[in-house]
Amino acid sequence: MNLLLKSILDECRHYTAQGNVATYIPQLAKVDPNKLGIYVITEGLYDSFAGDCFDRFTMQSVVKTMILLQALMDSGIEKVRGLVGVEATGKPFDTFNYSDQALTGANINPMVNTGAIALCTLIRGDTYEEKFQRLLGLTRLLADDPDLQVDESVYRSEQETGNKNRALAYMLKAYGMIHDPVEEILDCYFRACSILVNCRDLARIGLVFAHHGRDPKTGKRHFAPELARYVNATLATCGMYDGSGEFALEVGFPAKSGVGGGIMGVIPKRMGIGVFAPALDKHGNSKAGVQVLARLSRELDLGIF
Ligand code: DON
Repeated sequence: MNLLLKSILDECRHYTAQGNVATYIPQLAKVDPNKLGIYVITEGLYDSFAGDCFDRFTMQSVVKTMILLQALMDSGIEKVRGLVGVEATGKPFDTFNYSDQALTGANINPMVNTGAIALCTLIRGDTYEEKFQRLLGLTRLLADDPDLQVDESVYRSEQETGNKNRALAYMLKAYGMIHDPVEEILDCYFRACSILVNCRDLARIGLVFAHHGRDPKTGKRHFAPELARYVNATLATCGMYDGSGEFALEVGFPAKSGVGGGIMGVIPKRMGIGVFAPALDKHGNSKAGVQVLARLSRELDLGIF
């Protein structure tokens, strides 16, 4: 398996030159665009890996999966569904283009920035510091890595330059969808996006989603199967933004990308996958990462459709 992974990385390496690292968060522009790594936890719970799979990168939008799960665990399906819908927007992750519609929960989903920011309000905690700590704790638990930390420089970089997210959050407030202080909600969201992980962590988290809330390595159940189904279904339709339809055709399993270059793959009842390649395509998805997953999916027949 390690040999297969290595040969797929070698085949896809040239795609790293066809994408661009995110620059709208200045600190992310410093990342080496040539990095490429993968970590797979297969059936039988064997760990296989290749390339830069232990390099750390910030979760960015991959954390939207954790925000959705934490909101579901803390507030229940009905409240989550009432605040943020589940339909694909067909628009970029940070879109403002709601001009033909009022901003309502029905026309956003948990995987676009507006939806994730709104869902931070449904995480339990008296303060946003407490809500963030719950989210970090859950991420550490599912990744089976108690040492996960925030990259302070990326966090500060987002805090200083994240005016588009600020605007989106004020829109949520203007439309009565959130009520708490915008800066506090955003602080939780920015810090969540700046949690540092590696491919192993993403594969480990993906594995728990794949096994519907139970960690097959430890035997511990962390959340109910119906919550895993909610998250996995949302990933399948919205996890790769306005590239989700094409990803479903070419790769064929639930996944979540982030502008840090990570992608978490969930193969229901079978595997968890983490990929890292920071050069991105026009949707903000890892260019080489998507190609690596497409090849792996064909090789191992991972498509669920
Ligand atoms: O809020 C943002 O814009 C970033 N912290 C996360 C966006 C992101 O990762 C989109 N992903 N592909």
